[in-house]
Amino acid sequence: MAEVSGSEPLAAYRSGPHHGIPILLLHGFPLDALMWEDVVMRMPEVPVISVDAPGFGDSPSFADVAYAVGRPGAHPSLEVVADAVAAVLAREGIHRVIPVGLSMGGYVALALAERHYSLLAGIGLLDTKSTADDAAARANRLRIADAAEGEAGSTAVAPMIDGLLGATTKAERPDLVAEVIGLLAAAPPAGIAWGQRAMAARPDRTEVLAALDVPALVLRGAEDVLSTQEAVETMAHRLADVEVVVVPEAGHMTAMEQPDEVAEALRRLWERVNV
Ligand code: MLT
Repeated sequence: MAEVSGSEPLAAYRSGPHHGIPILLLHGFPLDALMWEDVVMRMPEVPVISVDAPGFGDSPSFADVAYAVGRPGAHPSLEVVADAVAAVLAREGIHRVIPVGLSMGGYVALALAERHYSLLAGIGLLDTKSTADDAAARANRLRIADAAEGEAGSTAVAPMIDGLLGATTKAERPDLVAEVIGLLAAAPPAGIAWGQRAMAARPDRTEVLAALDVPALVLRGAEDVLSTQEAVETMAHRLADVEVVVVPEAGHMTAMEQPDEVAEALRRLWERVNV
């Protein structure tokens, strides 16, 4: 994927043709836009723009991104990321997109839907949920954020490997397991910290879905232990025009574990929008 101009509020990359309403890829935590590589290469005919979240990949820190979108000193929030994504799209001259977010990327897609509704031509929610955290999950996130800023650094997210990959991947694909362990070890501590605080602060956005009258995809790995089938049903139930896909032999990282199925589902979503 080609990186676009360096003056964007977030590092952004484009691939495929520059006509048609593009898919906007929003990555999961604590990774960056590279997690989509295997999916993007399987759909060369689809226009795609992807971004790195603040503090991940080539994007500036959360504080710099907040400053760039006119919210200096903002507390960590996914709303700031949504505003930064909207600013990237405006600079690229893109007026409508199909946000497709995996896990944390899904939370950003929902914040974008709430704050920048007119940008949405469709939506893809992968291995994610629309509800807020309970008190225990929130406390755990704040603990990890503090640990990442302290001595633990990136190792604060090492235990995530247990939840990210499905049982089949763990049993049969040691190469992918090693790759994801490496990505967790390389996760930037400042990115981990703001990301966890922002996710802890996110509200329940289930009712945002009820206001969406665009084609939607809700997708989940059948072996995902972090985003449940109940979460899928909660989201799908609110959406007027939705395809639900359950990807066999995949956990939370469907886009890395089964990129063929994910690319097929995204291509169908893109075609439903670009009729
Ligand atoms: C992700 O994959 O983005 C994370 O699992 C999101 C989360 O911690 O809720």
